[in-house]
Amino acid sequence: MPDKILLLPDNIANQIAAGEVIQRPASAVKELLENAVDASATEIKLIINDAGKSLIQVPDNGSGMSETDARMCFERHATSKIQTIEDLFHIRTMGFRGEALASIAAVAQVELKTRKTENETGIYIEVENSMVKKQEPIAAPVGTSIAMKNLFFNVPARRNFLKSNAAEMRHIVDEFTRVAMSFPEILFTLTANNQQLFHLEAGSLKQRIVQLLGNNYNAKLVAVKEETDYMNIYGFVGKPETAKKTRGDQYFFVNNRFIKSPYLNHAVMNAYQQMIPGDSFPLYVLFMDLDPAVVDVNVHPTKQEIKFEDEKIVYAFVQAAVKHALAQFSVTPTLDFDLDASIQQLSSVQQPFTEKKQEAAASSSIFKGFTQKNQAHFIEKGERSELKHWKEFYEKASEERQVDSGEKVDKSETFPLATRHSLLATDIELTQLLNTYITVPSANGFLLIHQQAAHERVIYEQLTNASKDKPVTTQRSMFPVTLELAPADAAILEEILADLQLLGYALEPFGKNTFVIQGTPADVTQENEKHIIDVLLEQYKHFSSEVKFSKREKLIRSLARQQSIKTGVRLTEREMRQLVNDLFACEQANVTPDGNPTYLEFRQEQLDKMFGR
Ligand SMILES: Nc1ncnc2c1ncn2[C@@H]1O[C@H](COP(=O)(O)OP(=O)(O)OP(=O)(O)O)[C@@H](O)[C@H]1O
Ligand SMILES: [Mg+2]
Repeated sequence: MPDKILLLPDNIANQIAAGEVIQRPASAVKELLENAVDASATEIKLIINDAGKSLIQVPDNGSGMSETDARMCFERHATSKIQTIEDLFHIRTMGFRGEALASIAAVAQVELKTRKTENETGIYIEVENSMVKKQEPIAAPVGTSIAMKNLFFNVPARRNFLKSNAAEMRHIVDEFTRVAMSFPEILFTLTANNQQLFHLEAGSLKQRIVQLLGNNYNAKLVAVKEETDYMNIYGFVGKPETAKKTRGDQYFFVNNRFIKSPYLNHAVMNAYQQMIPGDSFPLYVLFMDLDPAVVDVNVHPTKQEIKFEDEKIVYAFVQAAVKHALAQFSVTPTLDFDLDASIQQLSSVQQPFTEKKQEAAASSSIFKGFTQKNQAHFIEKGERSELKHWKEFYEKASEERQVDSGEKVDKSETFPLATRHSLLATDIELTQLLNTYITVPSANGFLLIHQQAAHERVIYEQLTNASKDKPVTTQRSMFPVTLELAPADAAILEEILADLQLLGYALEPFGKNTFVIQGTPADVTQENEKHIIDVLLEQYKHFSSEVKFSKREKLIRSLARQQSIKTGVRLTEREMRQLVNDLFACEQANVTPDGNPTYLEFRQEQLDKMFGR
């Protein structure tokens, strides 16, 4: 069998999107896995130590390399996958630039073992700083194993730039997931620090999705399959109820290559229109197969961005295919809003929401959880801080009253609330509108408080104070619950365990991707602990891109979101009063932690003007 690898002539090499191929351990993982796939392996292992910083190794049972190829593969622009410019338009392999191994050999110590079926012995090569250090024949199984050690050992600046092990491991799991998702017919394993995180038997795409993303998707996937002369699409989308608050499980593959495409994402979102809330993200794993001639994968060094010859056709096709799938499995809602007769018959729909029922609802755990005493991190405050802002209002308000009685007062400074006694006592009327807003009369008109925004601010400040002063008391669970997470989520949880502890959540690692919930904050109403942690992780991921926040800040923001009373919840008079009081006891009452307003003030003079008075 002749050698295969050729050096690309300069004119082709220069046309290939150059760039930094290896930026972090995960980039090397992607390249090594893709090489194994291109070598037609049926079993590919990924072995990681120290989040890839000390070792990334990929043994495969693919074609192997000849002795000359094994020497050649580390040269720049050395590839067996294309030979002419024409070939760039017919790429069916993952690789084509002949750059990956050269880049890896430049930044790590590399050991290659490889053998082809027809050869009796294999070959071992050691490379460091792009120089071959050792080459000798060895006994080896058919296939190739490439180990890269001490990534960036010769570029300390890059090494220092790497993130925490948990963060780098998360990137690695992401890349592994993308490649493994794309080739369900190949067996993949992932072992990190001698612990096997994944063992993915070869199987169907659906089995692969469930293996990777979790069993809970099993009954919740809708198949997509459309074929035309121009392109084929197949894969799965999640039923609307699986939509999440964070963009997570969304995968596009074009000719088996994972790509990122906000444009096509929009097409899928359009297909889901009215089925999921606007701020949530449906699951999708969609494969598009097109003639490689109408796709340019050569626009970006990571190959994750591609150009379609006609992206409008692809957009329309994706949208139609997803819509069709959702409709076929009758998960599309009936678009007219006539309620199903059987729903109308339900006793809960027919019976009025009596006062008695309202009371019962008010004593339910949701409501109890809402009042400050039951808050997770309720700390008895001194009267001083509680009343801080009220004092201001009081002084201003008494001036206001003097205005009423004809005395002189400086009206230039404004303040929102009418009288001192008002909210602390009970003679100021609070009204809830649309189960979302609370109106509060003010000196010049009224305030419209957004209940969820306000409560987020309140909890945020309580938690911030709690984490500064002393840890929140944990209530040990009588029956500790075990929690099994997807590896990426486990990595996140690992990262925030210590901070969670300070905030009253006691979790302990318990083997592979598993944690035991030993306790939750003492005053928080006991509900499903697993659910609490799930929602928390979702929220935390939502903030993860905000690099400007510390871990603790992200966590506190997540908890504030999670624990806040939501819009749509009816509040009792007492709860409204408590919320308004708590809000104005805050250091910065007028905005949420995200900077959105917690209340708006409507002045009578403005309103009068609007009515032309
Ligand atoms: N696991 C493997 N099994 C067999 N051959 C391999 C393996 N890995 C690399 N090779 C050979 O080494 C060559 C160089 O690999 P390299 O990853 O650097 O480039 P490429 O895959 O051709 O292109 P790209 O830079 O886009 O990945 C490949 O073209 C292939 O012939
Ligand atoms: Mg490659």
